[in-house]
Amino acid sequence: MASVKTVLYLGVCLSAWIITSAGGNLVPKAENVRWVSLDFKTILTWTAKPSNYKYTVMYSRAGGDWMDSQHCIRVSESECDLTFDLVPYDRSYTADIKTEPETLDYDYDLEDFPHTDAPPFNPYRESNISAVNFTVQAVDEKVMVHIIDPLTSIHQTDKQLSIRDILKKDLKYKISYYKAGSTGKRDIISDSNTAEVSGLDAGQSYCFMVAAFIPSRAKGTQQGAWGIQQCTPGEPNIVQDLSLGAWVGIVFIMLTVLIIIITVTVLCCKCCRQKNPSQSSAPV
Ligand SMILES: *[C@@H]1O[C@H](CO)[C@@H](O)[C@H](O)[C@H]1NC(C)=O
Repeated sequence: MASVKTVLYLGVCLSAWIITSAGGNLVPKAENVRWVSLDFKTILTWTAKPSNYKYTVMYSRAGGDWMDSQHCIRVSESECDLTFDLVPYDRSYTADIKTEPETLDYDYDLEDFPHTDAPPFNPYRESNISAVNFTVQAVDEKVMVHIIDPLTSIHQTDKQLSIRDILKKDLKYKISYYKAGSTGKRDIISDSNTAEVSGLDAGQSYCFMVAAFIPSRAKGTQQGAWGIQQCTPGEPNIVQDLSLGAWVGIVFIMLTVLIIIITVTVLCCKCCRQKNPSQSSAPV
């Protein structure tokens, strides 16, 4: 009985030593595991020392069973697109990256190969939202802002889903605007894709920026990227809009007119003076 135990212990120690020596130096382990997610396209990335080993990714919903990913079984790349696995989106998922030998052999016990856990990730709450396209249109003292929902790379029954198809009522837009030439900015939140900004000075140019805004998320992930700034044209202000050339022209014309007036006045006076002495001397 005692000898069986000794043999068992020896066996355990030996296999532990094999695993540590193998895992320590030779078998690469996935490192720097992180999630990169934009508009609900979610990719798990990691780094590993170059080798001939492969990687297999499994994932699980919080508290659920481990499942094989659709596209990342024994891959050589150090990334895995899990967009279509992490459904429904509003769940916390975790993943596990396991190193596997290049060729599967009976000599290997896969349990002995290193693996790395990914931090938990919820696509619905943590996916970044890309910059928004929008247009602005001035109508008297109002500006209409028309926003286009960014598209995701997810298709459902031939339709490409937009971020609103996924976020629904949770999606708002933040509109930040300022009067051209002033520094004070104002923010408004719009529930829909069309927003009316009122109380503006008529004829003034205003500049607008728009970003997706999801107030139900945690602070750090609430706001999408800002779209390219758009400005409304102000009413043309003649004094400000004249170019330097135009100003030179105006000054030149005014100087010419002034010179003509002076010349004419001087000539007239000379004429008058010349006439006057002859008139006074006429009776003599
Ligand atoms: C979202 O974007 C920020 C800033 O670029 C980046 O640091 C973060 O890792 C991104 N998050 C995801 C899940 O892609």
